Amino acid sequence: MATPLIVPPRLLLGPGPSLCAPEVLRALATPLLGHLDPAFLRIMDATKDRLRELFKTANRLTLPLPGTGSAGTEAIVVNFIEPGERVIVGVNGVFGGRLADQARRIGARVETIDVPFGEAIPAEAVESALEREPAAAVIIVHAETSTGVLQPDIARMAAATRRVGGLFLLDCVTSLGGTPVEIDAWGADAAYSGTQKCLSVPPGLAPATFGERAVAKLKARRTPVPSWYLDLGMIDAYWGSERAYHHTAPISMVYALHEGLGLLLDEGLEASFARHLRVRRFLDDALASLDLRPVVPEAIRLPMLTSVAIPEGVDDAGLRRDLYERFNIEIGGGLGPLKGKVWRIGLMGYGAREENVLTLTGALRDLIPRHRKTRSA
Ligand SMILES: Cc1ncc(COP(=O)(O)O)c(C=O)c1O
Repeated sequence: MATPLIVPPRLLLGPGPSLCAPEVLRALATPLLGHLDPAFLRIMDATKDRLRELFKTANRLTLPLPGTGSAGTEAIVVNFIEPGERVIVGVNGVFGGRLADQARRIGARVETIDVPFGEAIPAEAVESALEREPAAAVIIVHAETSTGVLQPDIARMAAATRRVGGLFLLDCVTSLGGTPVEIDAWGADAAYSGTQKCLSVPPGLAPATFGERAVAKLKARRTPVPSWYLDLGMIDAYWGSERAYHHTAPISMVYALHEGLGLLLDEGLEASFARHLRVRRFLDDALASLDLRPVVPEAIRLPMLTSVAIPEGVDDAGLRRDLYERFNIEIGGGLGPLKGKVWRIGLMGYGAREENVLTLTGALRDLIPRHRKTRSA
């Protein structure tokens, strides 16, 4: 007989995937419907309505794209930017860097606004880049998961972009559901997220929303969308009124998202934002008692993800291995220039609870002294 699947019961407190709500796990086990079954079409419509509430938007074209959060990044690049167009990308972490890479790959003229990891992109820098030369699009990461920075001044950057006729495109992978996201009030033309962070759903879908200006740009393209799979016109033909087959929807993941969004809206968005912040403050206090310091200043620190400086002389990889093996806990290591320098602690969605903070910090209290490297004489 084939070996059965055996999975250790991990407490997922890293940068994602985060813990799933039990109701979501149950929804995943629901029997399948066909992707054009009227009963499934009703679930699709309800999911779109719930996403509009979450993104705070009236955008008709609001749906979950097939694929992880990266499908969202790829979708905005391939649909709304054409070869040779000027694009400004804010890079204050790994995910901004990836967006710039994706835009370059489709032949855009990319200008990056680079600031050190752990800082926010200054709105003035976006404004002056646009004054120097208008751009077809500005792309900004709302919550930089590689560092734990919450980007302020989104509405101001969106307004500057629209003034020159460009599209303002926003990555909300980590922020959606855990901190306010106001697509219409901010004037963002398109935004996407991922299911695996504050929505308490496994990785696999990229909820996204596209406004009228973005749709108009898509319709006016000179060149075909270079990705067949992520061509929004074709995806809309399936998720919109035509119901034309494009791909077979990941049925179980749509169930899971429908359920996760329902739970979030039942809790209330404001209540969820307040819970994430309250638990983050609880973490701040617990970290202070261990003499551990968050690296991002309070004013721009994410509620759902905290980067903590690894204390001098502590073995990063060894400690995180022991966290798995002895305590069944996952936290994240640093990315890019922060590799080996920080731990990333995610308290997202279903995982954002005080008891998880106590479990983690209790384990760290035990492990940190054990993993101090002894200096040879
Ligand atoms: C800000 C941000 N953008 C994009 C992504 C890519 O999402 P995924 O890994 O689900 O493809 C992530 C993943 O952590 C992210 O944090």
